[in-house]
Amino acid sequence: MEIGRPSSTPFIGLGSFSFFVLIVFHLQTSYAKHHNHHCPASSCGNIHNISYPFRLQTDPPNCGKKRYELSCENNNHSTVLNLYSGKYHVHAINYNNYTIQVADFNIHKANCSFVPPYSLFNYNFSRRDPYLIKMNTGSESYSLSEAITFVKCENPVESPLYIPTDPCINSSGAATTILSKGEYYSYVKVGGTYTSGLEDSCRIELMVMITSRQQRIWENSSTNISYKDIHNQLVYGFELSWLPSFVNDVHFGYTCYVNGSNNVVHCKDI
Ligand SMILES: *[C@@H]1O[C@H](CO)[C@@H](O)[C@H](O)[C@H]1NC(C)=O
Ligand SMILES: *[C@@H]1O[C@H](CO)[C@@H](O)[C@H](O)[C@H]1NC(C)=O
Ligand SMILES: *[C@@H]1O[C@H](CO)[C@@H](O)[C@H](O)[C@H]1NC(C)=O
Ligand SMILES: *[C@@H]1O[C@H](CO)[C@@H](O)[C@H](O)[C@H]1NC(C)=O
Ligand SMILES: *[C@@H]1O[C@H](CO)[C@@H](O)[C@H](O)[C@H]1NC(C)=O
Ligand SMILES: *[C@@H]1O[C@H](CO)[C@@H](O)[C@H](O)[C@H]1NC(C)=O
Ligand SMILES: *[C@@H]1O[C@H](CO)[C@@H](O)[C@H](O)[C@H]1NC(C)=O
Ligand SMILES: *[C@@H]1O[C@H](CO)[C@@H](O)[C@H](O)[C@H]1NC(C)=O
Ligand SMILES: *[C@@H]1O[C@H](CO)[C@@H](O)[C@H](O)[C@H]1NC(C)=O
Repeated sequence: MEIGRPSSTPFIGLGSFSFFVLIVFHLQTSYAKHHNHHCPASSCGNIHNISYPFRLQTDPPNCGKKRYELSCENNNHSTVLNLYSGKYHVHAINYNNYTIQVADFNIHKANCSFVPPYSLFNYNFSRRDPYLIKMNTGSESYSLSEAITFVKCENPVESPLYIPTDPCINSSGAATTILSKGEYYSYVKVGGTYTSGLEDSCRIELMVMITSRQQRIWENSSTNISYKDIHNQLVYGFELSWLPSFVNDVHFGYTCYVNGSNNVVHCKDI
């Protein structure tokens, strides 16, 4: 095309026209860059407001950030987050406090025998990742979610931290991977740290996230909790922070926090 020729062309008019075209093209691309904040919200299942930084796989490429891509499955009924090796159902995206509430994709309220296929706990998350389990307000940092531990023990354990998984997950069975034979006792350990308070006769089977203390369903309950309560909490899921989306150039030293008085996010090098 003539327009692409260098401006050494004797046709001055055409040269300035190509310059004009370049300017318009430049304006359009910068507009497109800003425009990714203004794509119409996408919708999938119960999540009607999928907007920046989130995007669906089917959204135009300029919408949202690739790191925050979700997919829409089950005939557009379920919004899905693939996180590390796991697959999670998105229950809510909160734009007010920069969190996303997710639960294992295959867990169902009616079936408490299901246990998630992959462990997920604090060590899976690193500062460079798109999601964090800590929320930072500048003055304090608190955990949105924390891990609970499925254990199998050779001896029965009497401790308020150990909740028997019977009858949802039966104690005695052939499915054990850690004790080659005989009986074992199956518990979920809630609270304490990973290894502190782990009884000698117990082995860790799996660690999964639940919401941290403040949001727990049973927090103010006066009766002892059962595995059914734990299961309901797994169905409810847990919250993750997407504050790292505010960092444009992802590198290790950055941290972002929410100013509690006006909800504005600041990111700084630490
Ligand atoms: C949807 O999210 C956008 C982006 O955060 C926000 O500005 C808008 O108010 C939200 N709309 C609804 C209906 O929640
Ligand atoms: C799912 O949503 C997409 C985009 O809105 C639409 O093109 C597609 O037909 C929908 N699929 C089903 C099965 O509803
Ligand atoms: C979390 O890390 C553990 C240990 O490295 C790994 O076995 C597990 O699969 C990871 N979880 C997910 C969801 O990828
Ligand atoms: C974030 O906001 C949602 C919706 O308003 C709320 O349900 C959730 O508890 C909040 N999370 C935190 C950590 O404040
Ligand atoms: C409940 O979940 C367990 C473990 O995933 C599965 O083996 C069983 O078939 C399920 N039961 C029903 C009734 O769906
Ligand atoms: C556990 O054992 C009880 C009673 O023996 C039985 O009714 C139940 O189906 C078993 N559950 C599983 C998940 O095997
Ligand atoms: C439990 O009680 C505390 C203090 O009264 C309150 O702040 C919190 O919201 C309650 N939690 C639930 C899950 O009801
Ligand atoms: C709660 O658990 C403790 C110790 O595990 C036990 O002594 C107590 O009787 C239980 N309370 C109820 C109401 O079941
Ligand atoms: C938070 O916002 C308030 C009100 O805008 C401001 O006065 C304060 O300096 C901010 N704090 C931080 C730590 O940015």
